[in-house]
Amino acid sequence: MIERTLVLIKPDGVQRGLVGRILSRFEDAGLKVVGMKLVLADENIAKKHYKDDLIPIVGGKTKKDWDAAGMKYSETVEELGVMIVNGTRKFLMSGPVVAMVLEGLHAVEIVRKIVGTTGPKDSPPGTIRGDFAHSSLGYASIKKKGAANLIHASGNVREAGPEIELWFKKDELHSYKTVHDLHTIYG
Ligand code: CDP
Ligand code: MG
Repeated sequence: MIERTLVLIKPDGVQRGLVGRILSRFEDAGLKVVGMKLVLADENIAKKHYKDDLIPIVGGKTKKDWDAAGMKYSETVEELGVMIVNGTRKFLMSGPVVAMVLEGLHAVEIVRKIVGTTGPKDSPPGTIRGDFAHSSLGYASIKKKGAANLIHASGNVREAGPEIELWFKKDELHSYKTVHDLHTIYG
């Protein structure tokens, strides 16, 4: 139940000077930073991070958004997915990101709760995406862009392990005690 999860503060978060405030939210909740660095992602890491598996999923969501907006288009779901996934990879590579590994009890789920839902428009107040951004996935896709939503967080425990391995070497991750180990982990 003590888990590790990958968090990236995306280029919009770094460029907007939100690194400190975003990090504080995780520290405030008692999550432990066990790895952290500034990285400029290349195409290789962007493609491994946002895998081709995302294409049909994102394509389906984009089709729904475009249909709801009454858009006329000739692209297939696959073509829409390729367009948005490429845009999302390009956005990830557009500037340095702060990559970090956070550790804690139920860390994957807790971090997703603090981050909010994918589209800032629909992400509730109190979440990072809801408080610091107001973009919508639908509008970004009409502009053929990946939506700027400040942050990436592993979606589930199964995703977290390979994502941590992609961004961090073993010797870049550290173990130490915090007061939360005393009050939350009882260790
Ligand atoms: O980041 P999260 O796990 O919440 O969402 P995802 O479904 O795994 O999608 C990965 C990323 O693709 C999102 O964070 C967005 O930056 C981008 N995306 C987008 O721009 N437009 C969509 N319709 C879906 C995803
Ligand atoms: Mg995801």
